[in-house]
Amino acid sequence: MMRIAVLADIHGNLPALEAVLAQLERLQPDTVVVNGDLINGVPFSTEVIDRVRALGWVMVRGNHEFYFLDFGTERAMPGCDDPARWGQLHWLVETITPAQGAYLAMMPDERTFYIPGAQPLRIAHGVPGRNRVGFHNRQTDAQIVPEIQGVGERTLISAHTHVQIDRHIHIDIDRSSTLQFDPHVDHHAPNHGELHRQWHLINPGSVGLPLNSDPMAQFAILENVPEQEEAGGWRVTMQRVPYDRRPALEAYSTSGMLAMGGVITQLFYWEIVTAEPEIVYFYRWAWEQGYDPDNATQAAFDAYVAATQRDHYVRTRDPLYQSTRIRKD
Ligand SMILES: [Fe+2]
Ligand SMILES: [Fe+2]
Repeated sequence: MMRIAVLADIHGNLPALEAVLAQLERLQPDTVVVNGDLINGVPFSTEVIDRVRALGWVMVRGNHEFYFLDFGTERAMPGCDDPARWGQLHWLVETITPAQGAYLAMMPDERTFYIPGAQPLRIAHGVPGRNRVGFHNRQTDAQIVPEIQGVGERTLISAHTHVQIDRHIHIDIDRSSTLQFDPHVDHHAPNHGELHRQWHLINPGSVGLPLNSDPMAQFAILENVPEQEEAGGWRVTMQRVPYDRRPALEAYSTSGMLAMGGVITQLFYWEIVTAEPEIVYFYRWAWEQGYDPDNATQAAFDAYVAATQRDHYVRTRDPLYQSTRIRKD
């Protein structure tokens, strides 16, 4: 039997990674794969790169690696020179060494594991070829299938949305007029040409910035099992590890990342506290209210806080604020 630990979306959260490492010591998986977004968000990106490099883990690159690798090139995100919106990236670019950058530069964008005696495992941060596509449990199978129909393997490990997913996606080809079968899309497809297809879609959740309302560090263990036990031949055991978030939260000030990163960095801090999609909440509110969160980030954020008092909501859940207050009392 093969046991694979799948980690994703560490986002520079070293304290969370250390907690996961301690759990891996106990679980003793055969191998560890990290499915993208190693860096950016929490102020320990360089430490996380060094740690993961030293461990020799199997890596897959995510979109946050590309924010770094594309910066200053013609591929860069539009507007990323603006320090009010992209100051956190500027801090990161100043922090990462050339050797660390080269490590990110040479990572693959996807992997396929062909383990003897087991069915293949396709691994990509979003879906193969697109690292910013992600999945949520509230989506229907019919919504998910168009994104994964090119995947010939029975099991796809995604990441990116920072929520744990372990579900089987089914589709009847003849009922879906928009779904075309491309016979050239994948020669490994075991159910190629059939009228019914299914995939095992897995997201291990996020080590460093979970967004499923549970702030614990999350990952998954996969074990190969007979097809009759689980379609696709891989069984998932989700893992959630508690850890002390205060060192990560403290580092936002002490590292200088918050001072340079401004609003976006504040929102990443909030996500550690609440495990809710604070950046999405802010963007959604700003667009609905007619603000421009990309080009007038601070003004939009000030209006957001004034209107929603989200800072109060976060503070009541902030372990750093709580412990400071208790010490003062
Ligand atoms: Fe991520
Ligand atoms: Fe991502």
